Amino acid sequence: MEFDEILTGLYSEQGRQNPYPWYAALHEHGPIGAIPRRSEHSSVVAVAAGYDVVDRVLRDPQWYKQSPPGWQEQEILRTFNSSMMFVNPPDHTRMRAVFARTFTPRRLGALEPVIERVVDQRLAAMAEAGAGGAEVDFVADFAYPVPALVMAQFIGLPEADLAWYRQRVDWIDEFMDVAGKTPQRLALANQAADELRGYYRDLIADRRRRPGEDLISGLVEALDAGGMELTDSELISNLIVLFNASFVTTVYMFSNGLPLLLEHPDVVAALPGDDALAQGCVDEVLRMESPVHFLARAAPADTELAGVPVGRDENVLLLIAGANRDPSRFPEPDRFDPRRAGPPSLAFGIGLHFCLGSAVSKLEGRLALPRLFQRFPGLAVTRTPDYSGSLFLRGIDKLFVTTGAR
Ligand code: HEM
Repeated sequence: MEFDEILTGLYSEQGRQNPYPWYAALHEHGPIGAIPRRSEHSSVVAVAAGYDVVDRVLRDPQWYKQSPPGWQEQEILRTFNSSMMFVNPPDHTRMRAVFARTFTPRRLGALEPVIERVVDQRLAAMAEAGAGGAEVDFVADFAYPVPALVMAQFIGLPEADLAWYRQRVDWIDEFMDVAGKTPQRLALANQAADELRGYYRDLIADRRRRPGEDLISGLVEALDAGGMELTDSELISNLIVLFNASFVTTVYMFSNGLPLLLEHPDVVAALPGDDALAQGCVDEVLRMESPVHFLARAAPADTELAGVPVGRDENVLLLIAGANRDPSRFPEPDRFDPRRAGPPSLAFGIGLHFCLGSAVSKLEGRLALPRLFQRFPGLAVTRTPDYSGSLFLRGIDKLFVTTGAR
């Protein structure tokens, strides 16, 4: 199949529902291909799904993140461009250092009992909703509230604000998809950024007056003590991006993972009590059903990637979810194997921008999955799930199950 045809298939509605056959076709084609018909609206000149190419570009600190033209005019893009996820060194190094100092093992350790409590509460709610064999939406009852409540506690957001907050997260995520750059979506994303900035301004002022144990209090305290450079405006941008980055990704880790795990009853049965297996399942779910499908980087100079020329300041789309199924790195890539050896998956990225919160999500998965199957050994999916329709954040938004509990 021609490269052009594969890309058309991948971007189609059907491709967004199930991109994996298209990734397999890309791997047969080669590790990277040049986009045949370049759009005047995009500086993306090539698409890579080969593990080695994607890994090499992400690890190379010279390849950089490019801001879209006119970003100064839009609140959402000003917010992005003053946060670590969207900037390059030296600003990236400065901002990330502040957050890395507050993401301490102690704070992560303190999260364990919080996760266990939240998970047990949600399992009790699921048991109640699913009593007598009633269908339950696993996303609404478990996959969504667990990360939301855990992150709210971690960052220091009042639980009562989460429903309001969720709508703003959705507006921003819809804008970030490849198909998201419409005037309506831009307007909603700008509104979300504007409202969230006001929200965090008030929250930060509150924590300055009444500090707690949460991340915002820790950050404010560290900044006010001096020695770290971050303005209040940058702090707000980073908090907005941090919560956005933490949230739907982890929801999809659970919702995409469940059908995959249930196809392997032997694994599910062995999960309670086997911590190493639980960790392996989390890694394998994230490899096979990555919530984030692509990243992009711009070339620092005219160069070549596996024979494909890329000019200075031109972008390459890096299909991390495709790279995670590269048969040259993951033999039988479509086979679920929680004991798989081999290179790390790129689900959390790699290099300078490697996910700051990977340990948080992995801990949530490792603690939650054994508890889930211990409580509901007869859990079953009742309907074929629909995926989000976005390739940037691909995941299941509704997943009907029966708990199997009597
Ligand atoms: C399964 C869940 C998650 C997935 C799949 C995921 C994925 C990613 C990926 C692919 C990147 C790299 C972006 C790039 O290179 O452009 C990233 C960065 C980031 N993630 Fe996550 N993430 C998850 C959970 C979290 C959580 C729980 C947090 C916060 C507690 C978080 C915070 C961040 C931040 C702040 C960055 C930007 C780091 C930087 O630019 O230096 N993520 N994440």
